[in-house]
Amino acid sequence: MKEFKGKVAVVTGGANGIGHALAQEAAKREMKVVIADIDKEGLDRVESEFKGLNADFMTVYMDVTEYSDMEMLAKKTIDKYGQVDILFNNAGVSVMGAIWELPINDIDYIIHSNLYSVAYGLRVFIPIMEKQNTDCHIVNTASVAGLITSPGAPTYFMTKHGNIGLSEAVNYQLQEKGSKIKMSVFCPGFVQTDLHNCDKRRPEKFKIDWEDPYYQSESYKEGYIKNTHVITTGIPIDSIGMSVFQAIEDEQFYILTHPQYLPIIGMRVKNVLDMKNPDVNFFK
Ligand SMILES: NC(=O)c1ccc[n+]([C@@H]2O[C@H](COP(=O)([O-])OP(=O)(O)OC[C@H]3O[C@@H](n4cnc5c(N)ncnc54)[C@H](O)[C@@H]3O)[C@@H](O)[C@H]2O)c1
Repeated sequence: MKEFKGKVAVVTGGANGIGHALAQEAAKREMKVVIADIDKEGLDRVESEFKGLNADFMTVYMDVTEYSDMEMLAKKTIDKYGQVDILFNNAGVSVMGAIWELPINDIDYIIHSNLYSVAYGLRVFIPIMEKQNTDCHIVNTASVAGLITSPGAPTYFMTKHGNIGLSEAVNYQLQEKGSKIKMSVFCPGFVQTDLHNCDKRRPEKFKIDWEDPYYQSESYKEGYIKNTHVITTGIPIDSIGMSVFQAIEDEQFYILTHPQYLPIIGMRVKNVLDMKNPDVNFFK
């Protein structure tokens, strides 16, 4: 897709961080923008900001972990704008900690937020785009954590590897049927966003039970401190919108914004091919 003016972009998780940057870039390119999020206050902020930009936009309060909310988002988009041209399946969360310590609620929370959400977005929006039969694009925000692993946050790696596998396979299927829908999977390293504070915006059904001793544990506290450190020292967000839109223009599937991870991706692939065991000493 090369022309954006007048077309319609839907962004999940558009009230903060990367989704917000994508919504801003879409508005800059004179797209009509649908900004979906579970963060009511964030959506209010976006309302005033986008009004100030004179953008044609709509905010939608929704929860990407609910399939019916994804359907509602699509319906609202079609009711208002009659079409959808770009879907940014972007909303996501992070959970730190060892799998054998995590409350099951945290595992459910991250799988539903990072993986079901993407599947729901594809399930709802692909038939609409197919019916339109126009040039469309879908960007799934994964992470470089979908291409490598480290000891830090196994459930995050699980969801992001799942995201990339899902994106690749769906992209093959769309190619096979000669679809006009193009896809990309966005795999950034750390970016300065509000991701480390995602617990503040948990859906009610995944709310933290502060009585659970896990949340008083050193592992939980260390996880929060580590996550805050890596997110707040990530790259500034300024270039993100431009990089992703350039990739859409170039019909580029893998979008990698952090070249420092390329040798690590290469090393992981080589280890797999050589059947070499993962060695934790690499990270020390
Ligand atoms: N920041 C990074 O370093 C980084 C790196 C790689 C990938 N990512 C990915 O980028 C995406 C965006 O994250 P971010 O860093 O901008 O974080 P962020 O917390 O700043 O923004 C995420 C947005 O998603 C929304 N959201 C969360 N759960 C939701 C739900 N159930 N329903 C609707 N909206 C929901 C939040 O309210 C928030 O506005 C995520 O998928 C994340 O995994 C981030």
